[in-house]
This record gives sequence, structure tokens and C-alpha cells, in this order.
Amino acid sequence: EKGGYEHFMLKEIFEQPQTIYDSFRGRLDVEQARLTLSGLDAIQDKLLAARRIIIVACGTSWHAGLLAEYLIEELCRVNVEVEYASEFRYRNPILDENDVIIAVSQSGETADTLVALENAKKKGATVFGIVNVVGSSIARLADAGAYTHAGPEIGVASTKAFTAQLVVLQLFALKLAQLKGTVSPERFTELVKALHAVPEQVEWILNNQLDRIKEVARKYRGARDFLFLGRGYNFPIALEGALKLKEISYIHAEGYPAAEMKHGPIALVDEHLPVVFIATKDPFYEKVVSNMQEIKARKGRLVAVVSEGDKVAETLAEDLLVVPQSDELISPLLAVIPLQLLSYYIGVELQLDVDKPRNLAKSVTVE
Ligand code: F6R
Repeated sequence: EKGGYEHFMLKEIFEQPQTIYDSFRGRLDVEQARLTLSGLDAIQDKLLAARRIIIVACGTSWHAGLLAEYLIEELCRVNVEVEYASEFRYRNPILDENDVIIAVSQSGETADTLVALENAKKKGATVFGIVNVVGSSIARLADAGAYTHAGPEIGVASTKAFTAQLVVLQLFALKLAQLKGTVSPERFTELVKALHAVPEQVEWILNNQLDRIKEVARKYRGARDFLFLGRGYNFPIALEGALKLKEISYIHAEGYPAAEMKHGPIALVDEHLPVVFIATKDPFYEKVVSNMQEIKARKGRLVAVVSEGDKVAETLAEDLLVVPQSDELISPLLAVIPLQLLSYYIGVELQLDVDKPRNLAKSVTVE
């Protein structure tokens, strides 16, 4: 049932070229630059009238939501807030029938997310569900939605469900931007093409970077702490990299916006601390490189996720994890892959139960 893989987590990481493709197959016509998201059509009027969109989720799904905040604000010019379901449900949030909530959940059964949505619906808000498990409680409660089509995810740590969530959220942002007229046809086509290239690019990472990632895993398996840093669209990916590592290896890790690091976490940096930067080629690249210099000056051990052909980060980082070049809005889908693999291989090096980390359950149905 693990299809020849040693663990479900590895199998699911390797399924991503297919699951990413499945998330846009049938929804995206690259030739015609046409995007169909019938769930979105169903609540189109509500969405076009909404002054803000609120995204509610937990854990990894919350990270997908955070990235979607950046995407939707950029492409659709509408306010987006991202909320931890567990906080949102107890905060007596100000909501009415003009609000649209996007719920992001792999299992569709997370108790905090479910109750947050029930409360929001009572106040008249419209709920759009981005859920993996068909017919789950959240899918049934939502007024409309789009499934992620990642297939069953057995590994407790979410991998393929996360990338599928990102794809659906990207489609959502693109479609809404098209309806609102906030994206030019040229930019739309560019993004659709970039998205379409992702499955093959993920395949490239899986075919070309494993040895290097295993090497980095061996080198740092004894680390006590890790820092993951990224900016812009890659800040949520830094959070996700840190969460994956904590879950799978039990090594303490923190994700931070790369520049915010100066306001505290930099005190942790010494010659023992691995600092993983996401330094792909995007408008933040120069700034990220200067953040890398700051860490290097304090003798931190630099690992960097970089775009193919990078020449600058190479001179700074001890280890490079290479991903293909992509549009800045799409490239987080690529940057997360080496980070998933890094936690996986560190967990394996430490002989831990990567599919069922201690204290964790696949779906958190108690609050
Ligand atoms: C992390 C992980 C959890 C879940 C969270 C939400 O790898 O799996 O953080 O993302 O419990 O679960 P869902 O998406 O099922 O609502």
C-alpha cells in the first residue's frame, strides 16, 4: 500500500507532481487561458460584493491560508484576514451577511475550524470550503467550495494536501481577479502558464535534489534548534518548513519573516544554529541575500533554497537546495518541496516514526 516507498510521507511527497496536476486538471484550460471553478461561480455575487474575505484554518492549512492572503490581496485588491480557527471561534468576531469565509482543511473534520464556521454561518456569513476529504463535515457545512483532489493522505504530517490547497487557492485568486477585472489578461496567462509548469518542475526537484537533501539531513540531524526564514510569498513557506521539522524530527524550529529576525531571534544565532533561507529569485531576493549576510557574519550555518542558476547565494550558503525558476506567486509551491524532504530525511536519520509522530493525530476532532 506504500507503493514501494518506505513511508507514507515519502510516497505522498512523491505523489505531488500528480496531485498538483489533479488539483487544476479540468479547471484550467491553458490554451484558452480559461479557468473554471464552479464552486466560486455559485457564490460569485457574494464574493464580488464582499469588502473582505476571512480565511479560517489550523496548522499547515493555516499556512496555506496565509499565503492566500498575500495572493488574493495582490491579485484581487480585496482585504483578506487569516485567522486561527481556535482563536476566531472564541473571539466573538464581527461578522454579517456581507462576509465571505474561506475554510481550508485537509480532513474537513477539524473541530475548531468546524465550530468557527458554524458560528460564522449563524451570523449570516457565506462559507467557501477548500477541503480534501469528500463529504466531510466542513465540506457539508460549506455553502460552496472546491475540493483539493489530493487523494487520501495517510502520513500525519500534511504534504500533498498542502500543495493541493495552494493550487486551489491560487485558482481561487486568479478566478476572482478575472471576475473583478483586477488582473490583466497578459498577467493572467502568465500565471496560468506558470502554474501549469509546476508538476514537471516538482518532478525535477524529486529527480535531482534528493542526494543533496539527504546530505544536509545527515549533517544537521544533531541540531538542537533550526531557524527558517523567508519573505513575502515565502514567509508562509518558512513557517511550514519549521512546522514540518518540529513534527517529524522533534527538533525545535522557528519560522520567521527574514527581516523580523533582527528583532529577536538573531540572538539565537551561533556556529551551531542551522538557518534555512528561502532565497529564490523574486523581487525580495536582494533583501533576503542581505539577511543571509547578517546571519553569516554571526557564524550561523546557512542552508538556502535557491533558484536554478543562482550565483550569489552560492557564495554565502554552505548548502544549496535548488528549485526551478518560477513566477513569484507560484514559486512557493516549489520551495516547500525540499523543506518537506529535509524534515522527512532528518526524521529517518533519527529513526523516528515519521508517519505517526508522537502526540499527533491526523485529524484533531477535539478542541
Ligand atoms: C501539520 C498538520 C496539521 C493540520 C491541522 C489542520 O502537518 O497536518 O497542522 O494541518 O491539524 O488539519 P486540517 O487541514 O485537516 O483541518
